[in-house]
Amino acid sequence: MSKAVCVLGCFYGDEGKGRTTDYLAQKAEVSVRATGGNNAGHSIVVNGHRFAMRLIPSGILSNHTIAVIGNGVVLNPKVLIGEIEMLKENGINVDKYLKISDKAHIIFPYHEAMDAYLESIRHNPIGTTKNGIGPTYCEKYERSGIRVEDLYRDDLKNKLVSRIYNAEKLTGMKFDVEEIYSTYLKYAEVIKPYVADTVTLLHKYLEEDKYMVIEGAQASLLDIDFGSYPYVTSSNPTIGGMLTGTGLSAKDIGDVIGVIKAYSSRVGAGPFVSELFDETGNLIRDLGHEYGTVTGRPRRCGWLDLLTVKYSCMINGVNYLNLNHLDTIGKLDKIKVCVAYDVNGKITKDFSTNEEFLRDAKPVYEEFEGNFGDISKCKTFEELPEAAKKYIRYIEEYTGTKVALIGTGAERENMIVTVDL
Ligand code: IMO
Ligand code: MG
Repeated sequence: MSKAVCVLGCFYGDEGKGRTTDYLAQKAEVSVRATGGNNAGHSIVVNGHRFAMRLIPSGILSNHTIAVIGNGVVLNPKVLIGEIEMLKENGINVDKYLKISDKAHIIFPYHEAMDAYLESIRHNPIGTTKNGIGPTYCEKYERSGIRVEDLYRDDLKNKLVSRIYNAEKLTGMKFDVEEIYSTYLKYAEVIKPYVADTVTLLHKYLEEDKYMVIEGAQASLLDIDFGSYPYVTSSNPTIGGMLTGTGLSAKDIGDVIGVIKAYSSRVGAGPFVSELFDETGNLIRDLGHEYGTVTGRPRRCGWLDLLTVKYSCMINGVNYLNLNHLDTIGKLDKIKVCVAYDVNGKITKDFSTNEEFLRDAKPVYEEFEGNFGDISKCKTFEELPEAAKKYIRYIEEYTGTKVALIGTGAERENMIVTVDL
């Protein structure tokens, strides 16, 4: 009986989780998405071709890994079908490998409209991706959501009429029930072959001793409970969501890999203590190509914040870190790392998502030597330049967590593995 390896983001997203799962998918037999929807954008480079995956677990790119969209995901069928077609065009055997939970909740156009509307009336906008994620989860928890299995029921139209009525009242917009209904019936037919009771399926895979990877979307600090509320997403991208979003139990969880970059980035509004507003921030953005995978939005950039990494390790039970973009940070002369906060004269190493705490916190930095040179060919930790090793050892010591995977470039093979996961 195998256990699921979990991969999750330790900051505000875009840590390179897709690359981690893609790397693991070379041996993984099953890869799973548990939470979120097409607000995720995981970019993976295979043979020089960049894939931007939003819904389907990126493990599918290995073309030998079963890809499961779990019950905790909110599913936009249009985006899903676009992704299926894109994968097929690239020779991926989607028909063989894709499975979709019958319990995942469906995103409709009125959810996207509600998302945009709610953003427009917020005093302090969150900067959501406007993909309808929040409104779809709202409906789920309000117990009026429409799930994949509901697409095949006779009362679908009636349900749609009542949901659309509510959406129209809220937004003042008009939606064409007939058109949405007929379009979604077509979507339903296309995705039907992939629909399954994934809860039982996932347990069977573990019983069959299959190597399983749960691919996190979003990140710990975007968590609805443990993130910088209200500037968060509307699901639990932390370890708990990986259980409730799949139906696996706590005893099915194996290694938990926390993914970080050698610097930090955030898209959307909200606190970011180690953010840089100067030339260095711009330089990191350009060197790391920190622009949204889907929206192209420039990401806010700053130094690595070890308080947040330690917090994420704590709440998720992270036992290994994957450090990405070591090559990017190594292009700078000097590298800073946030090791404490100065909160109104009081120095602390304990992170908190309290709004006033994060507003008042000033970063306290430790400085490291940069100029790592070309590290993309390094295959072992030992081959790295001394400055890079020192930087990594510091992260390990501070967080009490071993760095098992080190990203040294954009290509699939640019990864140093120090622990066989
Ligand atoms: P991946 O999986 C970065 C952010 C949005 C916004 C907030 C709420 O690629 O790391 P939402 O549309 O979810 O209601 O937006 O969360 N956000 C992300 N930021 N990476 C993501 O996913 C994100 N998913 C949501 O920018 O601030
Ligand atoms: Mg992203």
